[in-house]
Amino acid sequence: MPVRRLPETVQNRIAAGEVVERPASVVKELVENAIDAGARRVAVEIEGGGVDLIRVTDDGAGMTREDLALAVERHATSKLPGDDLDAIATLGFRGEALPSIGAVARLAITTRHAGEPHAWELAVSGGVKGEPRPAALARGTRVEVRDLFFATPARLKFLKTERTEAGAVAEIVERLALARPDVRLTLRMGARGERAFPGGEGEAGGRARLAAVLGAEALGDGIEVSAEREGLAVTGLVGRPAASRATAREQYLVVNGRPVRDRLLLGALRAAYGDLLPRDRFPFAALFVAVDPAEVDVNVHPAKTEVRFREPARVRALVVSAVRDALARDMAGAQATAGLAARAVALGGGGRPALFPRAAPPRPGFAERQAAFERMAPAARAPEPVAAGPEPEPEFPLGAARAQLHATYIVAETADGLVVVDQHAAHERLVYERLKRGLSENGVARQILLIPEVVPLPPREAEALLAEAGELARMGLVLEGFGPGAVCVREAPAMLGEVDLQRLVKDLAAEVADFEREVSLEGRLWRVASRMACHGSVRAGRVLKLPEMNALLREMEATPNSATCNHGRPTFVRLGLAEIEKLFGRR
Ligand SMILES: Nc1ncnc2c1ncn2[C@@H]1O[C@H](COP(=O)(O)OP(=O)(O)OP(=O)(O)O)[C@@H](O)[C@H]1O
Ligand SMILES: [Mg+2]
Repeated sequence: MPVRRLPETVQNRIAAGEVVERPASVVKELVENAIDAGARRVAVEIEGGGVDLIRVTDDGAGMTREDLALAVERHATSKLPGDDLDAIATLGFRGEALPSIGAVARLAITTRHAGEPHAWELAVSGGVKGEPRPAALARGTRVEVRDLFFATPARLKFLKTERTEAGAVAEIVERLALARPDVRLTLRMGARGERAFPGGEGEAGGRARLAAVLGAEALGDGIEVSAEREGLAVTGLVGRPAASRATAREQYLVVNGRPVRDRLLLGALRAAYGDLLPRDRFPFAALFVAVDPAEVDVNVHPAKTEVRFREPARVRALVVSAVRDALARDMAGAQATAGLAARAVALGGGGRPALFPRAAPPRPGFAERQAAFERMAPAARAPEPVAAGPEPEPEFPLGAARAQLHATYIVAETADGLVVVDQHAAHERLVYERLKRGLSENGVARQILLIPEVVPLPPREAEALLAEAGELARMGLVLEGFGPGAVCVREAPAMLGEVDLQRLVKDLAAEVADFEREVSLEGRLWRVASRMACHGSVRAGRVLKLPEMNALLREMEATPNSATCNHGRPTFVRLGLAEIEKLFGRR
């Protein structure tokens, strides 16, 4: 076949394949254009998850007739006045977005520039461009995109449910909203509701925006980050380990006002937490990196969501140290206000306090203790939980249970001090690890229910749960459909004992219905396991007998990762005799 130059419509559709992946990508490009045009207000509306309609209206500078006609052509941009790719200060720069959108959808732009007597409108449908025509619009620009992917039906097939696509749109708008607190944003999603991000300048605006995106409680659970070194600045908010999340969804990264999902930065964030968090937990974070635009290349990713730093090691080092410093400062602050612990510091002459206040995050040094503990407790020592045996010796790493306090904490005597265990946190981790072990072996042991349990659910959740029935059965939960709005549970994981199946199944259904984002089967299984573990656990508030407490301690010693619960909080704290002596000023 002879070589030929492809017609422009085909070229544009190919380019669109990279730029326009789903409705959320269109929203991203259009809002970015509005911001680049200096808009103070941007309104986004979608219908049918953005497939039927996306409308973005702004009060920015608008376009002249001439610019409008050129703007929908490929490689036409107003943003590289000096042809300089080395210091890009706008969100857009390629001149790809509008022609790409016009190639795969029905695009209509109405715009009013101050230098024009009236507004102009222009339509592009499936790559076929119309002529600018006079129109009515007082100011700014309104872009409407209808029937997304009508011209490339293959793409249409890859779209997820309307709910998921609308969710992705909301996520993009949130990421942009966080990056630019000075711009007022609204998002209307028809029956799916409305989100408003009122604008605000400066520090107050930034904080209000953080609250609007991350939720007001995030401000309380977060620690401020601020560091600067040689023209590079990192500021923002990171969550305490105890407020960790199940996914990385709430990690917002912004480089010079551009929201990114940059691997270098995500890795630096994770590294900063070290083992303050288990691998399957994620801190929430909003981090803003400011750097000379010449130090960062934004032209490395089709959706402009990744960047390349000229000195990646320097950026990484600053992010890691900034976040670590913030976490350390916060822990020090928590110690100073933690009553007993504070006195321990005072009396012990600045030594590390031994008791963690319940609500505070794990301290530095905790990881070392955990490691030491795991060295002391080889799995071979207590392979089976001891149901009720002879009085255990305090030589066990976690000692001999002596008492239960507030029906929540187990106090044990060890060879050289004492240990306080949070019974719910500890048991939750044990059940979780048992589930994991069962899964990696032959599946989890099940118990047939004498009377099957019917659990009513929203139809969508019931459907989502049944779609995972095979995997759930491997985890010991056997269920089947029971009409459109219910499932019937026939078998349950034996290790969970007597659980409230209604609540467990409802919780699981909500978790599973949220799976569309989570791709890996493994990730989904761990989430289910974690959820089940929480239900199968000894709740705080249950009175335990000494043999039960000792059995729990012995199983903890034999279980990997048992020093933290599934949410990353410690399951026990240790107070050595030496530390107790310090408390009483004996040392
Ligand atoms: N809402 C808007 N208000 C004013 N001008 C706009 C608006 N949207 C687009 N334009 C103009 O149209 C041009 C083309 O937009 P388009 O999004 O295709 O490319 P870009 O923003 O320059 O680069 P990129 O492809 O990286 O987004 C822009 O450079 C800008 O001049
Ligand atoms: Mg653009």
